[in-house]
Amino acid sequence: MIDIHCHLLPSIDDGAKDMAESLALIRLAVDEGISRIVLTPHLHFGRFNNTLPIIKSAFEVLIAEVKSANINVELAYAAEVRLDSEILTLLANKNLPLYGRYDGQHFMLLEFPHSHIPTGSEALVKYLKKQNITPVIAHPERNRDLLSKPHKIKEFVNLGCWFQVTAGSITGNFGDECQTLALQYIEQGLIQVVASDAHNLKRRPPLLNDARNKVVTLFGEDKAQALFHDNPYNITASLFKS
Ligand SMILES: [Fe+2]
Repeated sequence: MIDIHCHLLPSIDDGAKDMAESLALIRLAVDEGISRIVLTPHLHFGRFNNTLPIIKSAFEVLIAEVKSANINVELAYAAEVRLDSEILTLLANKNLPLYGRYDGQHFMLLEFPHSHIPTGSEALVKYLKKQNITPVIAHPERNRDLLSKPHKIKEFVNLGCWFQVTAGSITGNFGDECQTLALQYIEQGLIQVVASDAHNLKRRPPLLNDARNKVVTLFGEDKAQALFHDNPYNITASLFKS
């Protein structure tokens, strides 16, 4: 499996608090059967003021530690970018952390606030699409606006967005409502990626197997292969080419 949304870089956001926790989380992911991980720290203006150079240097420190600990895993980095007009400046300055390039498009992990979908989101998505960037919208099943009006996702489907559901939503860790919406969106064929969105060992670990098994049971092996491997692999493969 491949995990393209997690917070395993140490001391950079609300994920792993130090290097020891990062290494423990990566070991757990590997034990889970995850062979490739894209680290996606929050880039959230005013809260986690990460930049591409900060993420890159934290990544280089981690890579050296993973090597010396002999952990067999492939790592790359991007970011979970919070919706904000600052994205336009980052894009213009070539400082916007992106996933890879696939099918003529760049992809990026885009996060809405959990409380709502802000006015102007559609305009920003349209602009990104014009620049050949396809947003992968993080965990739509946990957004309050979408929980009360699930059909509102269609506006972003029609704009060509991709969507990432969190594994814990599928297994019910975020409650019944999120689980129902996650499964409904998967059933409707709206979801392209499942990822762990792991933050820590206890409450939000980097586990995918239980969610994958549930998807196999409900929707079949081909759907699970697409959500847990093929789609996430395709849109991040170019990050792993040196
Ligand atoms: Fe996240």
